[in-house]
Amino acid sequence: MGKDVIVACDFANAKQTYEFLDKFTDKKPFVKIGMELFYAEGPAIVREIKKRGHKIFLDLKLHDIPNTVKKSMAVLSNLDVDICNLHAGGTIPMMEAAIEGLTRADGTRPLLIAVTQLTSTDQESMERDLLIHEKIDEVVIHYAKNAKKAGLDGVVCSPLEAGKVHESCGKDFLAITPGVRFADGEIGDQKRVMTPKQAREIGSDYIVVGRPITASADPVKAYQRCVDEFID
Ligand code: C5P
Repeated sequence: MGKDVIVACDFANAKQTYEFLDKFTDKKPFVKIGMELFYAEGPAIVREIKKRGHKIFLDLKLHDIPNTVKKSMAVLSNLDVDICNLHAGGTIPMMEAAIEGLTRADGTRPLLIAVTQLTSTDQESMERDLLIHEKIDEVVIHYAKNAKKAGLDGVVCSPLEAGKVHESCGKDFLAITPGVRFADGEIGDQKRVMTPKQAREIGSDYIVVGRPITASADPVKAYQRCVDEFID
């Protein structure tokens, strides 16, 4: 899969999601389904969106003992999603078990991406609550290297970290980056943002874009603007 724009479908239910997706009559965007929508609607929404012709990044961020993660990943793999993710904090054996669970009988599997330290965790909370005293940037890169060792395909990271991730883990190791805003758009609650064009220049492989598209008066036009800036 090449570079693409992934639309974060952060809607509360299926009705709102389909109303949004119905606007895309031409190209069907790659979409991200997160915990809120998945817990509200269950696997049926994944099947329906897949049937409508979208690729799916199922953002459930698994983190449990290896056996549980392995079995759960097998279930998600059967849903035929394109990208799944987990917390690298679950350690290498958990990540290896996830790959085993995801791999289908024919050897194919969805891409598997790790969350390193959440962007809501800062140096202070990491030291205070997790007793991790290294620099947070180094922790992020260390977790990315662990993910690579375990056989994963990439990490979710800030666009500002994408270059460093490629330097440390190779250019084929994917950097999927949220925190994208148009130069003339609202930043909202995101702190460190980049435009789609800057994300392209810095080497993001996929950008995850929510409100600049979903809250736009013309979502199809906003999506196309992202694609034009990021890919074309
Ligand atoms: O609306 P917005 O463009 O801010 O949406 C970004 C999406 O990426 C949301 O689904 C958010 O949960 C997700 N995300 C993020 N920052 C991270 C990880 C995920 O914004 N570090």
